[in-house]
Amino acid sequence: MLVIVKEDYDEMTREAARRVASLIRKKPDCVLGLATGSTPLGLYKELIRMYKEEGLRFSKVTTFNLDEYVGLPPTHPQSYHYFMRVNFFDHIDINPRYIYVPHGMTEDVAAFCQWYEEEIQKAGGIDLQVLGIGANGHIAFNEPGSSLGSRTRIKTLSEQTIKDNARFFERFEDVPRYAITMGIGTIMEARQLVLLAGGRGKAQAIKETVEGPITAMVPATIVQMHQWATIIVDKEGASLLSRTYDG
Ligand code: PGA
Repeated sequence: MLVIVKEDYDEMTREAARRVASLIRKKPDCVLGLATGSTPLGLYKELIRMYKEEGLRFSKVTTFNLDEYVGLPPTHPQSYHYFMRVNFFDHIDINPRYIYVPHGMTEDVAAFCQWYEEEIQKAGGIDLQVLGIGANGHIAFNEPGSSLGSRTRIKTLSEQTIKDNARFFERFEDVPRYAITMGIGTIMEARQLVLLAGGRGKAQAIKETVEGPITAMVPATIVQMHQWATIIVDKEGASLLSRTYDG
């Protein structure tokens, strides 16, 4: 596991963008696993800049998003479909047919989840999975206690996650309670993981992920078992780490 500590948020997301861009240049038809949330916004901004200014092309890239709220249609401003369109897909030359985001309105969740797993397989598996981390150590919506071998399925969001997400909704009651999420087993099959975390609020989760024992109570700790995982943090996110890591 490679841990890279960057000066600040911009440096952190630029480093992630360099890694994603390098893969796309080597393998134009690569399969990316994408994440939502505040953290990857800088990564998408930088990739858009590379598309506009450096000729980075996405037309053959396939993407699979980690998760989506149950009950929100793709047009809902807080849905992850909407987030991805507005913050990334609308600004690059990606082929809409190659974009996969779980459907929060699906009527048959189990069948949908099975289909999503199959589509990942058919695409040849995920080459690089971008990950954020929750303050409680979740990855995607795999909350503490999730099976470390889990597959794509529906999950109940933890109290902490519901509170963390409340800032995006007008009323607390509007925050979704369920999500469809790739499982930890699904995520671990990606050939490369790039986990991003910045700010004080993530420092404890980062400490446990990098230096703590592997436990389902902090799902992100499973990345210690991955053959090619890179954790990119800013100074604040790294503030509780006890060892010195690469800059
Ligand atoms: P954030 O969310 O980037 O908005 O902090 C990360 C996560 O909960 O996975």
